[in-house]
Amino acid sequence: MRPVLLVPGGTGQLGRELVALAPPGTGVRAPGHAELDLTDGGAVAAAVAGFAADARAEGRCPIVVNAAAYTAVDAAETDAAAAFAVNARGPALLAAACAAHDVPLLHVSTDAVFAGDASRPYEVDDPAGPASVYGRSKLAGERAVLESAAAAWVIRTSWVYGAHGENFVRAMLRLAAGDAELSVVDDQCAAPTWSADLAAGLLELAARVAGGTPPRGVVLHCTGGGGTSRFALARAVFEELGADPRRVRPCTTAEFPRPAPRPAYSVLSRASWRAAGLTPPRHWRRALSAAVPAIASGEAADRRAMGSKPTSASRGNRGRSEAANAYSKKTLPSPADSV
Ligand SMILES: NC(=O)c1ccc[n+]([C@@H]2O[C@H](COP(=O)([O-])OP(=O)(O)OC[C@H]3O[C@@H](n4cnc5c(N)ncnc54)[C@H](OP(=O)(O)O)[C@@H]3O)[C@@H](O)[C@H]2O)c1
Repeated sequence: MRPVLLVPGGTGQLGRELVALAPPGTGVRAPGHAELDLTDGGAVAAAVAGFAADARAEGRCPIVVNAAAYTAVDAAETDAAAAFAVNARGPALLAAACAAHDVPLLHVSTDAVFAGDASRPYEVDDPAGPASVYGRSKLAGERAVLESAAAAWVIRTSWVYGAHGENFVRAMLRLAAGDAELSVVDDQCAAPTWSADLAAGLLELAARVAGGTPPRGVVLHCTGGGGTSRFALARAVFEELGADPRRVRPCTTAEFPRPAPRPAYSVLSRASWRAAGLTPPRHWRRALSAAVPAIASGEAADRRAMGSKPTSASRGNRGRSEAANAYSKKTLPSPADSV
């Protein structure tokens, strides 16, 4: 049966990629936060009920892909109630509605559910041990989804970047275009994941669910291949743009403290994804080579469309992304550039 997707958080970086990459024949409804607030139980129940009824009237398989989340990792430390409302209660409400209408749920989660003190990639059944409020709220969301009566899968990913929203790679692209030197932490390691590759993986999984051959494992890891440090990732972005990578210097997390602790090592094993017969995303470095020109040309087009006004990407980090807070500039050319 052909799938049709309901994507709460549809205007976030992953949500927008799912809309862009859905193959012909796969319908997508992608309400943004203003259109569907995951913390509003009545609205969630009504949205899933209406979506399921419409899908079945068209002879399609309805699937919910939850791309909504509170992703302001540092802000969550002082706003736990908001983080838990969106990342824990929201998925619980969504899962209850999915169970009530027999709609499968794909729920996206994070490497931040792990403590980050491992010396090998985390398997799906390794014990969780989140160090941050954000990680604890996401773990609570995972558990709510898996304990619900819904047919549900939890898909963990890491260091997501793409053309939309605030993320580490976009921040490095902006900095590479200037002449500032910067310090980036060299003691946090994970797998960068291009949002397009994550979206492709989720769409492949949705097609399997709709086709009646869902994976047996209900927790899956979907990330770029390999792993690297923030510092090496930053240098790789500079290399891709032809900027001097020596402008990026290594520093330690202790030298650059943030409100929320980040895992030191959170590479996720992709054995679960392979065992499910799903296509593992390409190695992070190859993905970056494909992503940087795509992201850079999108930014250039944005700048042309906006005249001299700064784009949303160049207005600076609002602190929303879980990936963008790992570096400091030694020189700050202007307040608008500060991140
Ligand atoms: N970004 C990463 O590095 C990363 C790494 C690992 C896992 N993940 C996970 O991947 C998923 C997608 O993340 P992303 O990078 O696409 O995040 P994102 O760009 O911040 O998008 C999240 C979306 O959720 C929306 N949202 C927030 N509160 C909401 C609410 N109460 N109801 C409905 N929507 C709400 C946001 O809308 P507003 O902005 O308008 O509030 C935003 O559009 C999340 O589950 C995240 O935890 C991300």
